[in-house]
Amino acid sequence: MTQPPNILIVDDEEHIRKIMSIMLGKHGYNCRLAASGEEALELIAQESFNAIFTDMKMPGIDGLELLARVKADNPEQVVVVVTAFTSVDTAIQAMKAGAYDYVAKPFKEDEIILILEKALERGRLLDENRLLRKQIKERFDISSFLGDSSAMHKVFDLIAKVAETRATVLITGESGTGKELAARSIHQNGPRRERPFVPVNCGAIPPNLMESEFFGHVKGAFTGADQAKKGLIAESDGGTLFLDEVAELPLDMQVKLLRVLQEEEVRRVGELKSSKVNLRVVAATNKDLKEEIEAGRFREDLFYRLNVIMLKMPPLRERPEDIPMLAALFLKQAVEKNGLGEKKFSPGALRVLMEQRWVGNVRALRNAVEQVAVMSEGEVITPDDFPFGPRAAEAVQAAPVAGQSVSCGDGFAVSIPETAVDLKAALKEVTEATERVIIDRVLKDHKGNRTHAAEALGLSRRALITKIQAYNLD
Ligand SMILES: Nc1ncnc2c1ncn2[C@@H]1O[C@H](COP(=O)(O)OP(=O)(O)OP(=O)(O)O)[C@@H](O)[C@H]1O
Ligand SMILES: [Mg+2]
Repeated sequence: MTQPPNILIVDDEEHIRKIMSIMLGKHGYNCRLAASGEEALELIAQESFNAIFTDMKMPGIDGLELLARVKADNPEQVVVVVTAFTSVDTAIQAMKAGAYDYVAKPFKEDEIILILEKALERGRLLDENRLLRKQIKERFDISSFLGDSSAMHKVFDLIAKVAETRATVLITGESGTGKELAARSIHQNGPRRERPFVPVNCGAIPPNLMESEFFGHVKGAFTGADQAKKGLIAESDGGTLFLDEVAELPLDMQVKLLRVLQEEEVRRVGELKSSKVNLRVVAATNKDLKEEIEAGRFREDLFYRLNVIMLKMPPLRERPEDIPMLAALFLKQAVEKNGLGEKKFSPGALRVLMEQRWVGNVRALRNAVEQVAVMSEGEVITPDDFPFGPRAAEAVQAAPVAGQSVSCGDGFAVSIPETAVDLKAALKEVTEATERVIIDRVLKDHKGNRTHAAEALGLSRRALITKIQAYNLD
């Protein structure tokens, strides 16, 4: 993975190019040579350089202009200018235009190497800073990957196990269940965490740009390619490529991607030689890939290549016990983000949240909590603050058609059983099941103390005991 630093030497005098490349070559640097500013720009469009040495006085595009163009494209590119001893003025001009340093001709080998080492060190620091900043952000994001249900414990255990490896992981699950969060967490908890995590939404790239987005291209590879591009695969070298919504990949791209994964080599559009890449792939989809294969929309060979380890994110409605902690987190975040006063949910409000079917899963919960945080007036959020509180329950009872879902706003819905001749009975059943979960939890929270639990639930002790018996919670 670590290749020798790539250095570009630009000078119109052949013997200077030669001397410099010999000096640098002795120290293990990889050198590319350009006899003019024009030639240099062409090379820069095609490969990346850790540092560029350029002569100042050249016919055509001179050193200053080259410097300006390079910096405009990539402000962090390290450029060292080489000047005749007599023209220190231009050197100063170059420094002002963003050159890292300058060397006066004639130069000694030590001098060149020292400057180069310093310059490369600076480049490394810049890279490191950028990566650190990104990591801090990501760590922060995934540090709030929550769940205490047994289903989520299984997810966390699997992530911890596979994070150490390079195995390809296929994450499935409904929309909003946390597939991307899981992918980031696999990356962050493994040995690649210092390297990039590159998310790609396969459904969002226009088909005609797909190849160059993934594989990159050289300058002029096709109409409109007026700059070279690295490509997402090369960008994730050493790190993790996250193929989100992988079912949306067109079939021809599936073939090409499979080849890259098998050969671990990538060739940019318009380039002859391919380069090695070392990446880890995590893919996600909310579609049933087996069905996609049957329908001829997904290649079986790619499926097997991706599905080495399968991680299924459980829908939120199957783990209502996670809802209070998620809701508390999202409420805290919404309060901070919107500069609101302190807020909390009443037990009744939590019950309402736990009763929803959350078709849009955690994302829908997050939106609902954010909305209620902003809209509610008091410090305590009650069931009446929700658009789907007791009023929505009435809507269910009044709903005319069974077998459909009644949407109660953004991403949540209450589904009406097919056979629900008696909608009232259906509602009662759902409510009771949820009530049982909540009472059980509150009792545990209060270590079985019924007086305290009754208080927390806003019930009389007697009413609680009746319910405990009715639900067999003894
Ligand atoms: N267990 C969790 N803890 C905290 N936040 C979560 C959890 N799961 C999901 N989220 C949050 O819910 C939102 C949706 O998560 P994410 O984008 O990972 O879902 P997804 O499965 O990729 O959705 P889609 O299929 O729509 O792309 C994000 O804001 C994420 O931070
Ligand atoms: Mg996603």
